[in-house]
Amino acid sequence: MSKVILLNASPRANSNTKIVLEQCAREIEKEGVEAEIISLKGKNVLSCIACGKCAEKGNCILPDGLDEIIEKIRQADGFIPAAPVYFGTARGDIMSALQRIGKVSRGGDKFLDWMVGGPIAVARRGGVTLTLQEMSMFFTINNMILAGSTYWNMVIAGPEGTALEDEEGIDTIRLFAANVAKIIKKVRD
Ligand SMILES: Cc1cc2nc3c(=O)[nH]c(=O)nc-3n(C[C@H](O)[C@H](O)[C@H](O)COP(=O)(O)O)c2cc1C
Repeated sequence: MSKVILLNASPRANSNTKIVLEQCAREIEKEGVEAEIISLKGKNVLSCIACGKCAEKGNCILPDGLDEIIEKIRQADGFIPAAPVYFGTARGDIMSALQRIGKVSRGGDKFLDWMVGGPIAVARRGGVTLTLQEMSMFFTINNMILAGSTYWNMVIAGPEGTALEDEEGIDTIRLFAANVAKIIKKVRD
């Protein structure tokens, strides 16, 4: 069965980003595609140190547990990273993670090729479009397929646990998630 990995980069327990990804997972599963949400909470993701060891070994040597996540993405057909906006850009750990995931793929078996997905940004008020642009760069440099929707993948929510109140944002995300699953089914035919 095809599978999508959804990566939550929020450190909060009742995270808005997590709520958004739960909606995504539900839509993906409705399409008959498996969905797994993984959290970076508590992981202390390190930045790429440009050691180049991934090109030799096919995995990342940094000892923070990201390599297990990389392995899950390698086995998947879709990838949806989601981050809260911090000071107008994506929370730092998601960019560290994406840069390392991309480096391992590009230097080795190119497991990201034709993987379907797209980024999601969650914010109280501002910085969502820049955050989406920042995270989209990962997809288009790694020969991936970005799925669309009828607006950009942004949800406006400040206090913990309030994401569902942004109905337009949630509808946009639901359509995006269903599209990810539908494209996977076409691509993997
Ligand atoms: C350090 C920090 C910086 C933030 N910067 C922004 C910002 O630039 N723009 C914004 O709209 N919200 C900002 N926020 C609010 C969060 O993006 C917002 O609360 C979001 O819902 C958090 O998602 P989460 O619940 O999944 O962690 C910031 C929050 C923190 C902790």
